[in-house]
Amino acid sequence: MKRDIRALLNPALQHIGAYKVEGGQEAEVKLNQNESPFDLPLWLKEKILGEFRDEPWNRYPDILPYRGMEAYASFLGVPVDSVIMSNGSNEMLYTIFLACLGAGRRALIPQPSFSLYEKIALLLQAEVVSVPMRQGLEFDVDAVIETASSQRVDFIVLSTPNNPTGMSLSHEEVERILEAVDAIVLVDEAYIEFSKERTALDLIGRYPNLIVLRTMSKALALAGMRIGFAISDPRLMAEITKPKIPFASGRLAEITLVNVLENYSLVNEAVRYILGQRARIQSELSVIPAIHAFETDTNFLIIRVADAGSAFSRLKEAGVLVRNVSGYPQMENCLRFNVGLSEENDRLLEQLKHI
Ligand SMILES: Cc1ncc(COP(=O)(O)O)c(C=O)c1O
Repeated sequence: MKRDIRALLNPALQHIGAYKVEGGQEAEVKLNQNESPFDLPLWLKEKILGEFRDEPWNRYPDILPYRGMEAYASFLGVPVDSVIMSNGSNEMLYTIFLACLGAGRRALIPQPSFSLYEKIALLLQAEVVSVPMRQGLEFDVDAVIETASSQRVDFIVLSTPNNPTGMSLSHEEVERILEAVDAIVLVDEAYIEFSKERTALDLIGRYPNLIVLRTMSKALALAGMRIGFAISDPRLMAEITKPKIPFASGRLAEITLVNVLENYSLVNEAVRYILGQRARIQSELSVIPAIHAFETDTNFLIIRVADAGSAFSRLKEAGVLVRNVSGYPQMENCLRFNVGLSEENDRLLEQLKHI
């Protein structure tokens, strides 16, 4: 008799699920994926499409998107052999985890954090060592350092600012961890443009075990283009590059990135707007007694309400889509929503007041 189909598959599949976005991806007021509310202006889209039209569509792009990598390396002021571009930072996460993890390896993940980390680690049959956040959802740096050493972990992933808590490690704390541990440390800076903290990029020269991850999906407003980057010491980068899917980034993504970097004032303006709106939302939430808003260092906010499930549904019925993050440890009855346009934020606040 033939075996059950599941017995033929990677046994790790039994411990993970498919990635889901509860409530879907469409709404009148869409605040559930930490995107930018600003699309690129039409004049810039036209310029990008004009350049894309002249490309040879029948030819493979470069094995790695060197044009995009050169543009971003020069934007950051780092050597080109210290960066790699991917099809969204999610793809880069798979690549980095493949390079660092496998059966018998240990990955330390502070929890709650971005759900994909644990999923990829489990898929690769690595052992996941979780370190809980403190009571107020802040990172527990001492516990990270202590656990990394007592559990002899090989790999640590730190999302800072962290999704879904919204809180950051300070630059000093990141360095304290790097100094203390004997592991590859991946610092995911998906939300760094909104943060009061400095980037960890300057630490790469001193710590050959550090990888910094960036995405163009948040402040750069290019979620639909799928662009991410990793930056590390060139020797580590040469290793990370080995499992990378060849030809994974298309020509359009590269052209778009080059043009957005050339017009970075658009990003700065958007970030200023979002931080201004964030302050307004926080101040309006502070006078609603039934809502506790956590501190945030990102383009999204976390609130605790009496009943997150019912609040989520009522908001959805009113056309406002947020994320119910109650399923994460220590985040019972919490909702997450990103800052939108002023009028979208008004709609959200109005509904929250009713609820
Ligand atoms: C912390 C963090 N890292 C990575 C990503 C993935 O971003 P992308 O694949 O769009 O670059 C996200 C998306 O929400 C995120 O929150």
